[in-house]
Amino acid sequence: MHKAIVSTRYNTVSLVLHWVIALGILALICIGLTMTHLGLAPMRKFQLYQLHKSIGITVLLAVFLRIVWRLTHRPPPLPAMPLIEKAAAEGTHWLLYVLMLVMPLTGWALVSVSPFNLPTVLYGLIPWPHLPVFPELTNKVQVEAVMKIIHGKLGWFLTALIALHAGAALRHQFILRDGILLRMLPFGARAPKES
Ligand code: HEM
Repeated sequence: MHKAIVSTRYNTVSLVLHWVIALGILALICIGLTMTHLGLAPMRKFQLYQLHKSIGITVLLAVFLRIVWRLTHRPPPLPAMPLIEKAAAEGTHWLLYVLMLVMPLTGWALVSVSPFNLPTVLYGLIPWPHLPVFPELTNKVQVEAVMKIIHGKLGWFLTALIALHAGAALRHQFILRDGILLRMLPFGARAPKES
Protein backbone atom coordinates (compact mmCIF):
# COMPACT_ATOMS: atom_id res chain seq x y z
CA MET A 1 0.00 0.00 0.00
CA HIS A 2 1.34 3.48 -0.88
CA LYS A 3 1.19 6.14 1.81
CA ALA A 4 0.62 9.78 0.96
CA ILE A 5 4.09 11.35 0.88
CA VAL A 6 4.45 15.03 1.69
CA SER A 7 7.37 16.21 -0.44
CA THR A 8 6.83 19.99 -0.28
CA ARG A 9 9.57 21.29 1.97
CA TYR A 10 10.00 24.40 4.05
CA ASN A 11 12.31 26.91 2.37
CA THR A 12 15.84 27.53 3.62
CA VAL A 13 15.00 30.74 5.52
CA SER A 14 12.20 29.05 7.51
CA LEU A 15 14.40 26.05 8.12
CA VAL A 16 17.40 28.04 9.42
CA LEU A 17 15.18 30.25 11.62
CA HIS A 18 13.32 27.21 12.99
CA TRP A 19 16.52 25.46 14.13
CA VAL A 20 18.25 28.62 15.40
CA ILE A 21 15.16 29.31 17.54
CA ALA A 22 14.75 25.67 18.65
CA LEU A 23 18.40 25.27 19.72
CA GLY A 24 18.39 28.74 21.27
CA ILE A 25 15.31 27.95 23.38
CA LEU A 26 16.72 24.61 24.54
CA ALA A 27 19.95 26.36 25.57
CA LEU A 28 17.95 29.13 27.32
CA ILE A 29 15.92 26.63 29.37
CA CYS A 30 19.08 24.74 30.46
CA ILE A 31 21.05 27.93 31.23
CA GLY A 32 18.02 29.60 32.89
CA LEU A 33 17.48 26.68 35.27
CA THR A 34 21.21 26.31 35.98
CA MET A 35 21.82 29.98 36.80
CA THR A 36 18.75 30.35 39.04
CA HIS A 37 18.76 27.03 40.91
CA LEU A 38 22.32 25.69 41.21
CA GLY A 39 23.82 28.13 43.75
CA LEU A 40 26.85 28.96 41.57
CA ALA A 41 29.70 31.30 42.46
CA PRO A 42 28.67 34.97 41.86
CA MET A 43 31.06 35.51 38.91
CA ARG A 44 29.95 32.31 37.13
CA LYS A 45 26.33 33.24 37.80
CA PHE A 46 26.85 36.72 36.33
CA GLN A 47 28.45 35.20 33.19
CA LEU A 48 25.55 32.79 32.74
CA TYR A 49 23.02 35.61 33.16
CA GLN A 50 24.82 37.60 30.45
CA LEU A 51 24.89 34.56 28.14
CA HIS A 52 21.21 33.87 28.86
CA LYS A 53 20.27 37.46 28.04
CA SER A 54 22.39 37.40 24.85
CA ILE A 55 20.84 34.18 23.53
CA GLY A 56 17.38 35.34 24.67
CA ILE A 57 17.58 38.60 22.68
CA THR A 58 18.96 36.66 19.68
CA VAL A 59 15.93 34.34 19.90
CA LEU A 60 13.58 37.33 20.18
CA LEU A 61 15.04 38.83 16.98
CA ALA A 62 14.91 35.46 15.18
CA VAL A 63 11.26 34.94 16.26
CA PHE A 64 10.40 38.41 14.98
CA LEU A 65 11.99 37.55 11.58
CA ARG A 66 10.25 34.18 11.59
CA ILE A 67 6.85 35.80 12.12
CA VAL A 68 7.46 38.35 9.34
CA TRP A 69 8.59 35.51 7.04
CA ARG A 70 5.63 33.33 8.00
CA LEU A 71 3.17 36.16 7.28
CA THR A 72 4.70 36.80 3.86
CA HIS A 73 5.37 33.19 2.78
CA ARG A 74 2.88 30.36 2.88
CA PRO A 75 4.14 27.22 4.68
CA PRO A 76 3.73 23.87 2.87
CA PRO A 77 0.26 22.44 3.56
CA LEU A 78 -0.26 19.83 6.26
CA PRO A 79 -0.93 16.31 4.97
CA ALA A 80 -4.45 14.84 5.19
CA MET A 81 -5.22 14.17 8.86
CA PRO A 82 -8.29 14.12 11.14
CA LEU A 83 -9.72 17.58 11.80
CA ILE A 84 -9.02 17.31 15.53
CA GLU A 85 -5.31 16.60 14.88
CA LYS A 86 -5.09 19.50 12.48
CA ALA A 87 -6.69 21.83 15.04
CA ALA A 88 -4.30 20.53 17.73
CA ALA A 89 -1.28 21.10 15.46
CA GLU A 90 -2.34 24.60 14.49
CA GLY A 91 -3.28 25.49 18.09
CA THR A 92 0.13 24.30 19.34
CA HIS A 93 1.90 26.34 16.65
CA TRP A 94 -0.01 29.50 17.58
CA LEU A 95 0.69 29.00 21.28
CA LEU A 96 4.37 28.42 20.51
CA TYR A 97 4.55 31.71 18.63
CA VAL A 98 2.87 33.56 21.51
CA LEU A 99 5.20 32.02 24.10
CA MET A 100 8.28 32.56 21.95
CA LEU A 101 7.46 36.27 22.09
CA VAL A 102 6.21 36.52 25.68
CA MET A 103 9.20 34.64 27.17
CA PRO A 104 11.95 36.94 25.86
CA LEU A 105 9.79 40.04 26.40
CA THR A 106 9.15 39.21 30.07
CA GLY A 107 12.88 38.40 30.46
CA TRP A 108 13.81 41.74 28.94
CA ALA A 109 11.19 43.49 31.09
CA LEU A 110 12.46 41.96 34.33
CA VAL A 111 16.02 42.99 33.52
CA SER A 112 14.83 46.51 32.59
CA VAL A 113 12.86 46.98 35.81
CA SER A 114 15.45 45.43 38.12
CA PRO A 115 16.51 47.86 40.91
CA PHE A 116 20.10 46.57 40.36
CA ASN A 117 19.98 48.18 36.88
CA LEU A 118 22.59 45.79 35.46
CA PRO A 119 23.53 46.49 31.83
CA THR A 120 22.98 43.92 29.08
CA VAL A 121 25.92 43.54 26.67
CA LEU A 122 25.15 40.95 24.00
CA TYR A 123 27.96 38.37 23.84
CA GLY A 124 30.19 40.90 25.66
CA LEU A 125 30.22 43.07 22.52
CA ILE A 126 26.95 44.90 21.78
CA PRO A 127 25.33 47.10 24.46
CA TRP A 128 21.58 46.40 24.52
CA PRO A 129 19.12 48.98 25.92
CA HIS A 130 16.50 48.39 28.61
CA LEU A 131 12.85 48.40 27.53
CA PRO A 132 11.31 51.88 27.76
CA VAL A 133 9.02 52.82 30.70
CA PHE A 134 10.14 49.94 32.97
CA PRO A 135 13.25 51.71 34.38
CA GLU A 136 11.08 54.70 35.39
CA LEU A 137 8.48 52.73 37.37
CA THR A 138 8.23 53.50 41.08
CA ASN A 139 7.16 49.98 42.14
CA LYS A 140 10.13 48.21 40.55
CA VAL A 141 10.47 45.52 43.20
CA GLN A 142 6.87 44.35 42.81
CA VAL A 143 6.92 44.50 39.00
CA GLU A 144 10.21 42.60 38.89
CA ALA A 145 8.77 39.92 41.20
CA VAL A 146 5.69 39.51 38.97
CA MET A 147 7.83 39.34 35.80
CA LYS A 148 10.06 36.69 37.41
CA ILE A 149 7.03 34.56 38.27
CA ILE A 150 5.56 34.88 34.76
CA HIS A 151 8.95 34.19 33.11
CA GLY A 152 9.60 31.15 35.33
CA LYS A 153 6.12 29.58 35.07
CA LEU A 154 5.83 30.17 31.33
CA GLY A 155 9.28 28.59 30.94
CA TRP A 156 7.80 25.30 32.20
CA PHE A 157 4.72 25.71 30.01
CA LEU A 158 6.94 26.34 26.97
CA THR A 159 9.03 23.26 27.82
CA ALA A 160 5.86 21.12 27.93
CA LEU A 161 4.64 22.57 24.64
CA ILE A 162 7.98 21.92 22.95
CA ALA A 163 7.86 18.30 24.18
CA LEU A 164 4.35 17.98 22.70
CA HIS A 165 5.44 19.56 19.42
CA ALA A 166 8.57 17.36 19.13
CA GLY A 167 6.57 14.26 20.15
CA ALA A 168 4.01 14.96 17.43
CA ALA A 169 6.78 15.43 14.83
CA LEU A 170 8.37 12.11 15.84
CA ARG A 171 4.97 10.34 15.72
CA HIS A 172 4.45 11.62 12.17
CA GLN A 173 7.94 10.52 11.18
CA PHE A 174 8.11 7.06 12.75
CA ILE A 175 4.49 5.90 13.20
CA LEU A 176 2.46 7.65 10.51
CA ARG A 177 5.48 7.96 8.18
CA ASP A 178 4.10 10.88 6.22
CA GLY A 179 7.43 12.70 5.96
CA ILE A 180 6.36 15.74 7.98
CA LEU A 181 9.61 15.88 10.01
CA LEU A 182 11.79 15.61 6.89
CA ARG A 183 10.27 18.84 5.56
CA MET A 184 11.99 20.70 8.41
CA LEU A 185 15.36 18.88 8.27
CA PRO A 186 18.25 20.20 6.15
CA PHE A 187 19.04 16.73 4.76
CA GLY A 188 15.49 15.38 4.43
CA ALA A 189 14.83 15.70 0.72
CA ARG A 190 11.93 13.24 0.65
CA ALA A 191 10.08 10.92 2.95
CA PRO A 192 11.11 7.28 2.55
CA LYS A 193 8.92 5.44 0.05
CA GLU A 194 6.71 2.69 1.37
CA SER A 195 5.02 0.01 -0.63
C1 HEM B 1 12.63 32.24 24.57
C2 HEM B 1 13.36 32.97 25.41
C3 HEM B 1 13.65 32.63 26.83
C4 HEM B 1 13.49 31.45 27.52
C5 HEM B 1 12.91 30.12 27.02
C6 HEM B 1 13.96 31.67 28.87
C7 HEM B 1 13.95 30.73 29.88
C8 HEM B 1 14.28 30.98 31.20
C9 HEM B 1 14.18 30.02 32.27
C10 HEM B 1 13.71 28.57 32.13
C11 HEM B 1 14.59 30.63 33.40
C12 HEM B 1 14.63 30.03 34.81
C13 HEM B 1 13.36 30.42 35.52
C14 HEM B 1 13.28 29.85 36.94
O1 HEM B 1 13.22 28.62 37.05
O2 HEM B 1 13.24 30.62 37.88
C15 HEM B 1 14.95 31.99 33.07
C16 HEM B 1 15.37 32.96 33.95
C17 HEM B 1 15.76 34.24 33.61
N1 HEM B 1 15.72 34.81 32.34
FE1 HEM B 1 15.06 33.91 30.66
N2 HEM B 1 14.40 32.98 28.97
C18 HEM B 1 14.24 33.59 27.76
C19 HEM B 1 14.58 34.88 27.41
C20 HEM B 1 15.14 35.81 28.27
C21 HEM B 1 15.57 37.15 27.90
C22 HEM B 1 15.47 37.76 26.50
C23 HEM B 1 16.06 37.74 29.01
C24 HEM B 1 16.62 39.11 29.22
C25 HEM B 1 17.04 39.92 28.27
C26 HEM B 1 15.93 36.77 30.10
C27 HEM B 1 16.32 37.00 31.39
C28 HEM B 1 16.19 36.10 32.43
C29 HEM B 1 16.56 36.39 33.79
C30 HEM B 1 17.14 37.69 34.32
C31 HEM B 1 16.26 35.23 34.54
C32 HEM B 1 16.46 35.03 36.05
C33 HEM B 1 15.13 35.31 36.72
C34 HEM B 1 15.26 35.08 38.22
O3 HEM B 1 16.25 35.52 38.78
O4 HEM B 1 14.33 34.48 38.78
N3 HEM B 1 15.39 35.62 29.60
N4 HEM B 1 14.73 32.19 31.72
